[in-house]
Amino acid sequence: MRAAQRTSLIGASAAVIAIGFCTSLRAYEPPTNYALQCMGCHTPDGAGIADRVPSIRDTLLPFALMPEGRRFIVQVPGSAQSTLSNAELAELLNWMIRTLSTKPPTDLFVPFTE
Ligand code: HEC
Repeated sequence: MRAAQRTSLIGASAAVIAIGFCTSLRAYEPPTNYALQCMGCHTPDGAGIADRVPSIRDTLLPFALMPEGRRFIVQVPGSAQSTLSNAELAELLNWMIRTLSTKPPTDLFVPFTE
């Protein structure tokens, strides 16, 4: 990551944390949860960090279409160890699949539920 990118990531994180304090009484929407809990590693567009965090842009959807893959997606440490409720995690994963995937989900995609 270049220094400029890192600085803007820190800036974005600080802004998100500031927003978080102001709205701490209500549950967060998926984009906020992603920014707070996942974006640091997975980066804003899901492309990841070379040699450290794999891109999720081409893999999330295929995984979500297979029982084994669905299990994997909810069991990776980032998902399983997040502080989100099952319902929030399900909503977040659905949002990630719809928003960060390079290809839009097909009709075969069954959204995650609590
Ligand atoms: C500390 C860094 C880090 C954070 C924070 C993090 N992840 Fe991850 N994530 C990884 C790494 C590294 C992998 C690859 C692990 C593997 O393949 O076993 C990964 C893999 C995944 C995968 C597998 C998907 C794929 O297509 O390979 C999913 C889904 C995922 N993370 C979701 C999340 C979610 C949701 C959050 C936030 C709630 C999150 N992660 C936060 C580092 C992180």
